[in-house]
Amino acid sequence: MELYSPEIFISEEEINLRIDALGRAITKDFENEDLVVICVLKGAFIFCSDLIKKINRPLKLEFISLSSYGDSTNSSGNVRLEMDLTANIEGKNVLIVEDIIDSGLTIKTLMELISVRNPKSVKLASLLFKPIKLKYPVKIDYLGFEIEDKFVIGYGLDYAGRYRELPYIGVLNAGN
Ligand code: IMP
Ligand code: MG
Repeated sequence: MELYSPEIFISEEEINLRIDALGRAITKDFENEDLVVICVLKGAFIFCSDLIKKINRPLKLEFISLSSYGDSTNSSGNVRLEMDLTANIEGKNVLIVEDIIDSGLTIKTLMELISVRNPKSVKLASLLFKPIKLKYPVKIDYLGFEIEDKFVIGYGLDYAGRYRELPYIGVLNAGN
């Protein structure tokens, strides 16, 4: 049988502790406000589901699906909208929840798409950020972890559609 245990890069425990802190910060910042959380599929689905459990504010959950990677570990350079929101976000406080900011192209494209719909405010939460790869400036309001230039998998993140189910963040090695 195939060996299946990618190396642990960020453990479940570290992720949980960080998400507790992010949830507290978001709860505090949105005092007296409600919000629409936009989960960017597919990569952010586990992060987003854990994060919203720690946000103690009235919220609605929306999904959007964007894809830029295809099956490689490098961005294809163009972003496709695969599935749009189902709700009107005009006049709403929006919190976008992303898995990882790499070149920044996906989030730049998404920000443009969201801002033309006239929300009251837009904030960004991202589990991971690879500053070394950034090409398009982006402000991350709630960041999980800044990481070096490794291709990471697990906890929602995939390589060619695989490894999303890992409960921790691992590193893709040649052997995986
Ligand atoms: P960007 O548009 O270059 O910022 O890429 C962002 C998207 O690429 C993320 O939402 C991920 O889906 C994917 N991505 C970037 N780096 C990684 C990685 O290390 N592992 C898995 N997916 C990644
Ligand atoms: Mg993604």
